[in-house]
Amino acid sequence: MSLSLIARSITESPTLKLNETADKLRQKGEPVIHLGGGEPKSRAPIDALVAGAGLLSSGEIRYTPPDGISALKKAVVQYTEEHYGRLMSPDNVMASSGAKQAIMVAMQAVLNPQDEVVYPAPYWVSYPEMAKLCGAIGIPVVAEDGGFQPTLADMEDRIGAATKMVILNSPNNPSGYSYSREFVAGVVELCEKRGLYLIMDDIYHRLLFDGRRPISVYELAKDQSDGSKLIVVNGVSKMYAMTGFRIGWAVANKKLIEAMTNIQGHQTSGPSALLQYAAAAALTGIQSGVESLRLTLENNRNVLLERLQAFDGVRVTVPHGTFYSFPDFHAYEKDSVKLANFLLDKVRVVVVPGKDFGMEGHVRISYCGTIKDITTGLERIRWALDPNAPNELYIGQRKLVRDWL
Ligand SMILES: Cc1ncc(COP(=O)(O)O)c(C=O)c1O
Repeated sequence: MSLSLIARSITESPTLKLNETADKLRQKGEPVIHLGGGEPKSRAPIDALVAGAGLLSSGEIRYTPPDGISALKKAVVQYTEEHYGRLMSPDNVMASSGAKQAIMVAMQAVLNPQDEVVYPAPYWVSYPEMAKLCGAIGIPVVAEDGGFQPTLADMEDRIGAATKMVILNSPNNPSGYSYSREFVAGVVELCEKRGLYLIMDDIYHRLLFDGRRPISVYELAKDQSDGSKLIVVNGVSKMYAMTGFRIGWAVANKKLIEAMTNIQGHQTSGPSALLQYAAAAALTGIQSGVESLRLTLENNRNVLLERLQAFDGVRVTVPHGTFYSFPDFHAYEKDSVKLANFLLDKVRVVVVPGKDFGMEGHVRISYCGTIKDITTGLERIRWALDPNAPNELYIGQRKLVRDWL
């Protein structure tokens, strides 16, 4: 088969691959615990369901403008005013099939082959692959202290003549770390000084803990004109638990939105009409679900932390938000792929290898599932790795024998 160079350069999504393996094991009746997931388990808001069902039952489901229906664009304008303190025009908004597509189309609108896209490590698995889809090159910036936030000098060092774009995702997938206001302000200033596009991937921005408030990047920008190279991306997937609806958006300068809409128009003609109506209703309807999800996740994080801190060798940085943690398992195993496979094989727990996020020795453990999944999953992991853990472990009726410690 003669596949394109691009097709051959793209790696399979590690999370989707793990889901597949876990599903196969489950189908065989194996009691798999999935701590690798990337979606909240709460129900989608009732307003979204009613709006979607209403349009569906009308039978009048047609093409929409490629940048999105007016109701959704207006809802995004309202959202941006309320949560970022910035009044934009609907012409600054493009709706897309998930935040993922908004980021992809933004990259296609500005990147040329060999351009560089700079982002801190650990990073979301899709950034390097999306850059490759544009013929561009992803450049991760690793913090020298092994932490989750590089210094501004580290960022500046990796920005060169070929750099066209920077991406920040805060709070961050996979670390749950929320960059400091000083760091975000410094990156905004750096991008303005160097004339770089800056994508703020804010998909988790309201899922913050311990009283933290989301940062509005507009408050930090000096350039308040419509020529600004800031691109703010968000969507309903995470905070409204609407991952399968596939609705996200980008807010950017009008010219860029026009170019992005042009590209999206030829790719998909825009997102599904039904789901745009549902997303607009989620944004304008009852909002209590977001806060109750945030509270549940904060409680789940606390339970997870308590369990992780019981491990002798595990170093864990407290996640500030999201539903991920990214503990360091170096003391047990340096190769994160080996570790993830070992945990699935021995105790049937799914975690995601840190290697896929640009940081070896760590694994991503999600806490978007039930408390029982978290406690049982962590009990199994500890039993598999920690010689100080109690000797006995049952999975269902099966008593396991630990013959590798
Ligand atoms: C950092 C980050 N950005 C963007 C997305 C994409 O979200 P959506 O479901 O809206 O495409 C995800 C989803 O996992 C994510 O983790």
